[in-house]
Amino acid sequence: MRVCVIGTGYVGLVTGVCLAHMGHDVVCIDNNQAKVELMRSGQSPIHEPGLPETMQSSIAAGKVSFSTDLAAGVEHGEILFIAVGTPSLPDGSTDTRYIEAVARGIGASLTPQSGYKVIVNKSTVPIGSGDWVRMIILDGMEASGNGKSANFDVVSNPEFLREGSAVFDTFNPDRIVLGSANPKAIAMMEQLYQGIIDRKFAEDASLPTVPVVKTDLNSAEMIKYAANAFLAVKISFINEVANICDRVGGNVKEVSRGIGLDSRIGNKFLQAGIGWGGSCFAKDVSSLIHTAGDYGYNAEILQSCVHVNKQQRVLVVEKLQQVLKVLKGKTIGLLGLTFKPDTDDMRDAPALTLIDQLDRLGARVKAYDPIVSQSGIRDGLSNVMVETDPERLADGCDALVLVTDWAQFKDLDYASMAGFMNNPVIIDARNFLDPVAMTNVGFDYRGMGI
Ligand code: UDX
Repeated sequence: MRVCVIGTGYVGLVTGVCLAHMGHDVVCIDNNQAKVELMRSGQSPIHEPGLPETMQSSIAAGKVSFSTDLAAGVEHGEILFIAVGTPSLPDGSTDTRYIEAVARGIGASLTPQSGYKVIVNKSTVPIGSGDWVRMIILDGMEASGNGKSANFDVVSNPEFLREGSAVFDTFNPDRIVLGSANPKAIAMMEQLYQGIIDRKFAEDASLPTVPVVKTDLNSAEMIKYAANAFLAVKISFINEVANICDRVGGNVKEVSRGIGLDSRIGNKFLQAGIGWGGSCFAKDVSSLIHTAGDYGYNAEILQSCVHVNKQQRVLVVEKLQQVLKVLKGKTIGLLGLTFKPDTDDMRDAPALTLIDQLDRLGARVKAYDPIVSQSGIRDGLSNVMVETDPERLADGCDALVLVTDWAQFKDLDYASMAGFMNNPVIIDARNFLDPVAMTNVGFDYRGMGI
């Protein structure tokens, strides 16, 4: 099928490249010329395992191209994905101006001669945005003298991709959600995803076909928010249990295992630690709280979830204070900066909050991160010394904090690192290391609720 993806951020680029890999003819549109040039040369602007390879093979096969020309993209696609950013505004509501600009641009490019188009909201948009996008497109058509003959439908097709495994998640989804009032649009989307539904690109092709949730626009939009909010609540819940364990005894890892084996609960997203970060959870939970408030509902569970998550970051600093007492003049080394492993993304990363708090308390902060240390990325890191290896990080530190659970942090030479430190203390803010092994190599080890 002929596809146009508008916006080549993390969601748009992964979607476009994966659809091209399936054999569809994809044009990816972005208004950033330099980024378009970079992608044309087969380079990915984001760090995402498997993406550069899939991109390069699809470019070589002539299945994906990159352009700044929105009108040409709209003409090319029978299915048009809107995948531009929906950042948070300071009050927690969603900034939909990029969606609006794209919808207007699509309207201006549609003519009475354009064939039937399915316009897909792939970005996470506030509930009710499907109808609003339809209205803006119609306005755009009218403003450019193209009349208001609406030969298109809007579909909500939220993504559930995790950073660091987005290509894998695209080809191995738990479900595909399609929301629209028109069965014709839903049928075209099913056709588009048939290869994924039939597990042709899956790691385990023997699994049953992927369930497709066909529903109305608003429910599809709500599914995205409810899914992310539930996962965030699940993490805040287990962090609360960890904090109670810290006071009354018990090991939260054992508790997680014990409750996670109950199939009604499930074992995923029950890892206690420093709390959730990243570009999605904070934005989506606050947007849902905001939408609920706009319609007269006080979403108390969601507000508590955000509160517990904020506290969790502070708690790590409090643990440092318990061991080191005054932090002024002390040197703290952070193992990991990104909000989770296998990404270079530091949006809403817990490390950034720690750096700010430690800086405010007069401590010196150093950090080592497998990706950030090798890259030139230093945004938001002006008050931290980024070291090039773990031993240089340990050198002269009064305590280490493991902030991101990078796999390679399991196998560092902690005995040697302890030797470089003023004081071999480690706060394992992800409950990632073996407490006994760490104690055996001389560390004063502290976890979160263990
Ligand atoms: C999330 C959703 O999983 C995905 O479906 C959605 O489309 C985008 O948001 P992502 O932000 O990439 O994906 O990260 P995810 O793997 O979900 O982790 C989010 C945060 O929660 C990370 O900071 C992670 O470290 C933390 N986390 C996760 C925990 O603290 N404990 C857990 O048990 C799981």
